[in-house]
Amino acid sequence: MLQAIKRMGVAGTLRLALEGRLGAGPVIQDLESRKSGLQYIRELGRGKDGLSLLVRESDDSLRVHKILSDYGRSFLVRTLELFPVFEKLDWFFPLRKEEHGFSYPWEELEPPAGYTRDFLGVVDQVCRMQMELVAEGWVYWDLGSGHSNYLMTRDGALRVIDYGGNAFLPLHHAGPRPALPCWRANVLSYNAEFVRLQLLLHICEFALGELHARTLRMASQYGATGVRRGIDWTQRRLRGTPWEQLTPVILQMDPRRPDDWRTLAEQAAALAQDDSLADLQEEADIDSVELREKGVTVEGYQAYSIDGKEIAFASKGNLWDTRQKAEIVDTVLSKLRSAPEFRSMLDIGSNLGAYVFLAGVRYDLPRCIGVDYNGKYIETCTRIADHMGLSNCQFRVGRFSEEDERVSLTLALGLVHHLYQRTETFGSLGDIVAHLASTCTHWLLVEFPDENDNKAGKWTRMPGRASHSPYTKAEFEARLGEHFARVEAAGNIGPTRHFYLCSKQA
Ligand SMILES: C[S@@+](CC[C@H](N)C(=O)[O-])C[C@H]1O[C@@H](n2cnc3c(N)ncnc32)[C@H](O)[C@@H]1O
Repeated sequence: MLQAIKRMGVAGTLRLALEGRLGAGPVIQDLESRKSGLQYIRELGRGKDGLSLLVRESDDSLRVHKILSDYGRSFLVRTLELFPVFEKLDWFFPLRKEEHGFSYPWEELEPPAGYTRDFLGVVDQVCRMQMELVAEGWVYWDLGSGHSNYLMTRDGALRVIDYGGNAFLPLHHAGPRPALPCWRANVLSYNAEFVRLQLLLHICEFALGELHARTLRMASQYGATGVRRGIDWTQRRLRGTPWEQLTPVILQMDPRRPDDWRTLAEQAAALAQDDSLADLQEEADIDSVELREKGVTVEGYQAYSIDGKEIAFASKGNLWDTRQKAEIVDTVLSKLRSAPEFRSMLDIGSNLGAYVFLAGVRYDLPRCIGVDYNGKYIETCTRIADHMGLSNCQFRVGRFSEEDERVSLTLALGLVHHLYQRTETFGSLGDIVAHLASTCTHWLLVEFPDENDNKAGKWTRMPGRASHSPYTKAEFEARLGEHFARVEAAGNIGPTRHFYLCSKQA
């Protein structure tokens, strides 16, 4: 309750409660009886406003039939008013009125790809669709959550697949009111801030995989507080990502003006073509870096301090706790230190450099390299190495998939679940392990957050991303066994984060 008030204010929470008590009747039961009369091939999806069935018609053609729930039916007046618009614009299928709702011709379509460049192309098309729709006096606020309310043709053209009247807002008139009472103020009448927010939330969910966007999308439908909270959150979340460049354009646009949608479309298309686009998924997590005469203290995702030849690690007690991880790395380094082949180390996703400095300061390893795709981390680490005169510690900006360094020991900590589909396009643990193995002559120390890990669960099930083989611990261990003669458990953090020391020699 308190959470709800925080997210959507008192008025919004009241509306939500009223909807729960007095809103449109049970969705599932009424749908089951409505669909029973139809011969269908399969169910395509369902939501609050109804369900979609794939139906073979008497002339053998295929159509998608939307069976409306009471809630969906209450907005049918709006869909009916939009029939001529759908007939006219290529982004939409022409609809046919049915007793249970409406239907449209079936076409084989694909979900949109969520990778930055691809999704910029999607945003470009969404804006062009809005540009034409707005010229007809409507805007499409509900771009989808969980799955998108549009799909792509084989040629990459966008087609809207959700025609529920509640997804559209009339721009210049009050519009037909839904037949049942509705407490979602922002779904009833046009509110510019709400429309802008929906686009930002859609980007957060589909391009960055942020599930919290779904909660805010719901909360923002009930009033102004939810919208304001949502805008604040999306601005923070998009900071440090390529989407930050579009945020001010979205926030300043007038969604009733076709030209504003055109400008946004052009900016998204230009950004997608920009060769220097750094496909970052989040802002660098750096709280403070304190440089002293002979030392440094760093606070952020990693926390440590160096004083002369001493390095110490701080603990925050989380699953990526620097002290606990440093102990695991330290045990491995002390085990390898006497091996003559142990001369160099590469830390991929080196972040604030804690384990590069551990090897460089405590073990005097001649060549310690840190690579991260986020330039802010690399800048910070280079500054620290220069300040401390640690010429054996070097840092550079780089992506894992482009890495061609070969060292004695490679570290890949807290990384594999990001590489699977979030910051790279592997979608396969086999390919990730093969590439990791190519970077080391002797050893790999790798952490695997398993399929029950909260973060791994979130980042390995992102919509519109590659997934060619499963993300599981069993699969990961099997793939390690293909490239390394010996694979030993090297520790755990919590029940879901497993560390392996892998050796090429038995
Ligand atoms: C969860 S943090 C783990 C940091 C550090 N390895 C640790 O265990 O404390 C993941 C790090 O990998 C970096 N990263 C993510 N994807 C990457 C990629 N494809 N190539 C290089 N670095 C990447 C991020 O910038 C971030 O610093």
